[in-house]
Amino acid sequence: MKSIQIFRTVAQVRQWRANALFAHQSVGLVPTMGALHDGHCSLISQSLQDNDKSIVSIFVNPSQFAPHEDLDAYPRTVDADMALLNQFPGKKVDAVFIPKVSEMYPSGISTNIDEQRGAFVAVKGCSEQLEGSSRPQFFRGVATVVTKLLNAVTPTRVYFGQKDAQQCVVVQNLVKDLLIETTVKVLPTKREANGLAMSSRNAYLSEETKQKSAVIYQSLVNGERFYQEKSQHGPVNVGEILARITDTLNDSTGFDIEYIALSHPETLEDLEVVEPGVGAVVSTAVRVPREGSSQQTRLIDNVILH
Ligand code: PAJ
Repeated sequence: MKSIQIFRTVAQVRQWRANALFAHQSVGLVPTMGALHDGHCSLISQSLQDNDKSIVSIFVNPSQFAPHEDLDAYPRTVDADMALLNQFPGKKVDAVFIPKVSEMYPSGISTNIDEQRGAFVAVKGCSEQLEGSSRPQFFRGVATVVTKLLNAVTPTRVYFGQKDAQQCVVVQNLVKDLLIETTVKVLPTKREANGLAMSSRNAYLSEETKQKSAVIYQSLVNGERFYQEKSQHGPVNVGEILARITDTLNDSTGFDIEYIALSHPETLEDLEVVEPGVGAVVSTAVRVPREGSSQQTRLIDNVILH
C-alpha cells in the first residue's frame, strides 16, 4: 500500500498537483487545523469518494487568532493525526500538507493586526456579525489562509463542515467574488452521542462539562421543532423561536450565552420572521467552564431551518 505523502512546502504541493492534472485526476482538499476528529473524518471520507486524489492540510493559522485567544494552547497533535489518517478504513488520503508558519506567511505574521504586513483577504458583509462581532479578525484570517491553500492546491473540490456555518458562507462568497475555480462542498455537523457538536476545542472540556454542554444542541433542536410545527401555517416570528431556545439554555448554570441568532442562510442578515422556503441559520456561541482553569471555552453550534 502506498504511504501518505507529507508535504511541507507549497512547491511540493504544486508539483503533486501538476502530476494529478497531467493524469486528468480530480483533487479534493480538506483544510483543517489538526487535532482531527470524526467531524474532520466525514469531510475526508467524502473527498475520497468524490475525487481521484485527496489532500488534507493541517495548519494552525495564526491570523485567525486574536492576541488574547488560544493560539498557543490550541491542540497540536500531528503524530496522532497522521496515525488516524494512516488507519483510515479503505481508501486513504494521498497527501497531507503541514506547512510552517513562514511557508504560509512569507511576509511574516503577527496576531496583532496593527503589526501585520502583506496581503490579506476580507469578505465584507458576512464577516462582521455573529462570530465576527466577538472575533473581529477571525474571518479575515480564515479567508486569507483559505485563499492561500486554494492557490497552492487548486483543488477540484474543497470541503467544509456545517458546524462552522458562517465560515461556509464566507468561503462561498470568497470563491464567488475572487473568481476561484473550485467547488465548495458543505457537509453536515458530526455530533457526539449526546448531541454535542464535535470540535477540536472539546479537548479543553471535562467529561462533566461535555455532558452538560449537550444542552446547547438540545435547545437549538427545541427551536427547530417549534419552527417545523409553526411553519406549516406560514412565516414564524423569530422572537417565538428564540423563546423556545432560551427556555432550555438559560437553565444551565455556569454557561454564558454570547449570542443566539436567526440569520438569512445566504446573507447572514438578522431576521425578524422566518419564511418557509427561505429558512434560516440558527446559531449560538456559549462560553462553558474550562477544565482546571478559570478561563472558559467558547463552543459554537447551529441548526438550519428550511
Ligand atoms: P478546523 O476547526 O480544524 O475544522 C476543519 C473543518 O472541519 C472545517 O470545515 C470545520 O467546519 C469542519 N468541522 C469541524 N467540526 C466538525 C463537525 N463536528 N462536523 C463536521 N465538520 C466539522 O475550521 C477550521 O479548522 C479553520 O478555520 C480552517 C478552515 C482550516 C482555516 O484555518
